[in-house]
Amino acid sequence: MIEIKTPQEILKIKRSCALVAELLEELEKLIVPGVTTRELDEFAEDYIRRKRAIPAFKGYRNYPASICTSVNEVIVHGIPDDTKLKEGEIIGIDVGVLMDGYYGDAAKTFPVGKVQQQYLHLIQITKESLHIGIEQIKENNRIGDLSHAIQKHVERNGYNVIRDFVGHGVGIRLHEDPKIPNYGEPSTGPRLKTGMVLAIEPMVTMGSYEVEILPDQWTARTKDGSYSAHFEHTVAVTHTEALILTTT
Ligand code: MF3
Ligand code: CO
Repeated sequence: MIEIKTPQEILKIKRSCALVAELLEELEKLIVPGVTTRELDEFAEDYIRRKRAIPAFKGYRNYPASICTSVNEVIVHGIPDDTKLKEGEIIGIDVGVLMDGYYGDAAKTFPVGKVQQQYLHLIQITKESLHIGIEQIKENNRIGDLSHAIQKHVERNGYNVIRDFVGHGVGIRLHEDPKIPNYGEPSTGPRLKTGMVLAIEPMVTMGSYEVEILPDQWTARTKDGSYSAHFEHTVAVTHTEALILTTT
């Protein structure tokens, strides 16, 4: 069942989302060669708790940290540790918070220092695919319309979308119905209705979309080692468009 949120609920989700967006902006400033992903995680946890919110990922199915830090060929769910970021790498950071009973969820991929043009292009196309998906969102369009738009943009640029992870409804819980694949056929899937709140999150790789999970049970990387990027926004469906909630 896909929950329909009231305008008052959407306002509360918006507050959580604004905190997520603000924190991603702060984290971006800290991404320099030499910083460890654990330092980013500690900064994030302090930041969230100082705002009287709760890091939504920490403890979720035993996930051990407040953010996900996914470097290079890691697609999503990278666990922060003491490895230093190096010039030329790319890092996806995923943040979720719970505040006043409501969740917000967003992710972005950043370059570390000076990065090869081919990886900057991957980041750019992934970001564009998120926004092209969001453009398909309005009342009575269907999930498949946005899934298809994302896939088309990615594949037109010679990349592939990851199949094993999908976007999701969000708000009262971190993961609600519906599942939102980043591939699919137009005019299929659930119909969008005003008041739905959705986390759209394309994950894009330069190689094959086959995934491997590391022994830590979380880290998801591409099997062939090709680099991967991830962007995510939480949005609210209205009669005419999607309102992006994860903005400052
Ligand atoms: N944005 C991701 C998601 O919605 C992050 C989940 S990380 C987890 O699935 F640790 F909470 F699982
Ligand atoms: Co998500």
